[in-house]
Amino acid sequence: MNTINHQDCLSGMNTMKAESVDLIITSPPYNIGKSYEKRTSLDAYLAWQREIIKACSRVLKTGGSIAYQVGNYVDNGKVYPLDCMLFAFFLENKLIPRNRIVWHFEHGLHCTKRLSGRHETVLWFTKSEDYTFNIDPIRVPQKYPGKKHYKGDKKGELSGHPMGKNPGDVWQISNVKNNHPEKTDHPCQFPLDIVRPLIKALSNPDDLVLDPFMGSGTVAVAAAQLNRNYMGFELCHEYIEIANRRMGKEVFGFSEQLTMF
Ligand SMILES: C[S@@+](CC[C@H](N)C(=O)[O-])C[C@H]1O[C@@H](n2cnc3c(N)ncnc32)[C@H](O)[C@@H]1O
Repeated sequence: MNTINHQDCLSGMNTMKAESVDLIITSPPYNIGKSYEKRTSLDAYLAWQREIIKACSRVLKTGGSIAYQVGNYVDNGKVYPLDCMLFAFFLENKLIPRNRIVWHFEHGLHCTKRLSGRHETVLWFTKSEDYTFNIDPIRVPQKYPGKKHYKGDKKGELSGHPMGKNPGDVWQISNVKNNHPEKTDHPCQFPLDIVRPLIKALSNPDDLVLDPFMGSGTVAVAAAQLNRNYMGFELCHEYIEIANRRMGKEVFGFSEQLTMF
């Protein structure tokens, strides 16, 4: 608990107790030849992901959630959205689909033979019908905060929720490019603003959040900031060192008021 293990996540998860984790948030390699992965055939990649998703499902508590963040596998100009390719693997583990969150960002590569990609997705599944979902901590301001019912029983009362509205399933959040304040030497960080609302909504204080592909430690940092426990696996020792440095810098002095959600 509260460590990042220098270990392959599949063998690591296979040594964990079944039903021991409250929430899994992760972003796996996409098999696109990044420095931390060895590109392989799409079939081999999907077979590996199938094993990972099965292992995640085993360690997840009844009542728990998985949030799986992915983009595209691209092969010689052919674009395969990974959420579509992986969806059936969650269903075959009896996981229940709740949302497909579209993460929209403004910056990225400029394509010349197709539209430039400006979104990735987060697939959210629960293990059972009874699950943690805290909407209040992730409400966002109403468009018209003072708007009231103008007729009927509720005439004169506020028509929107006074604490703000449900943020919906399209989130506009900057990706972590070179000038982003969270940027480290890891080539593919996801932003804290993707992870924090998921942790707030899908877990409670003192719960355990697992990231099998911890990278620069974004899930660990967000979990610690929000008083959750974390655990993770990462193959590259250099990224674990980056994550440990972030833990010291970004957890101490964190103020919730500064975040978007
Ligand atoms: C897309 S990155 C995750 C980045 C992370 N979300 C962050 O914000 O920094 C995937 C990470 O998984 C790691 N990885 C790849 N295969 C792994 C495996 N079998 N077990 C554990 N980690 C692995 C890579 O080294 C890489 O850091």
